[in-house]
Amino acid sequence: MSKQQDNELGIGTRLVHGGQPADPITGAVAPVLIRSKTFQQPTFGVESKWQYSRGKNPTRSILERRLESLAGDGKATVFGSGDAATTMFLLTLKPGDHLICCRELYGGTIRLLNQLFADFGIRASYVDIEDIEAVKKVQTPETVAIWTESPTNPKLGVIDLTKVGNIARKLRLRFIVDLTFAPPVRRTRSNTELKRLSIA
Ligand SMILES: Cc1ncc(COP(=O)(O)O)c(C=O)c1O
Repeated sequence: MSKQQDNELGIGTRLVHGGQPADPITGAVAPVLIRSKTFQQPTFGVESKWQYSRGKNPTRSILERRLESLAGDGKATVFGSGDAATTMFLLTLKPGDHLICCRELYGGTIRLLNQLFADFGIRASYVDIEDIEAVKKVQTPETVAIWTESPTNPKLGVIDLTKVGNIARKLRLRFIVDLTFAPPVRRTRSNTELKRLSIA
């Protein structure tokens, strides 16, 4: 199914079938769970689509395609937990890199930053990230990204993501959003609503 065909499906259909129609071999409408770690290769030195589940697994790929379908665009990669995803991103940084974070951040993320990654030279400042002046005040040449949640944990504060995204763009910083409490469906809905408004 093409991305465009997928985008034309209603949100209810996409929640169940988005990104992946019925299983092409069995016709099963619920995803078939593939638990094999290794996959047969056509011949020596020729790789098939699937090789080793740590890198890519057919069942996990269905979930990734479904999340992409719900978000409407973009690329999804799933992890075993939220902290695993956070750690993966932090591991892409180098010593000296600096993050500007939203004042209220999940305690686990703050502990990862302050107690673990600080020892590897990753630094973080916590400010009101909707205020460009506050962001500019702590920005240094080593600042690489703005990091926020929305809604935040634990107070469920709602951050204006469009506003902060614009600040990040203006200051040429990457923009990371932990959407634990707001799955991509909500954003898709508002995207659709925005599209309808612009057509009207
Ligand atoms: C905002 C936020 N980010 C990350 C996490 C970590 O997720 P996990 O418990 O799956 O590692 C949580 C967990 O509550 C969270 O609320």
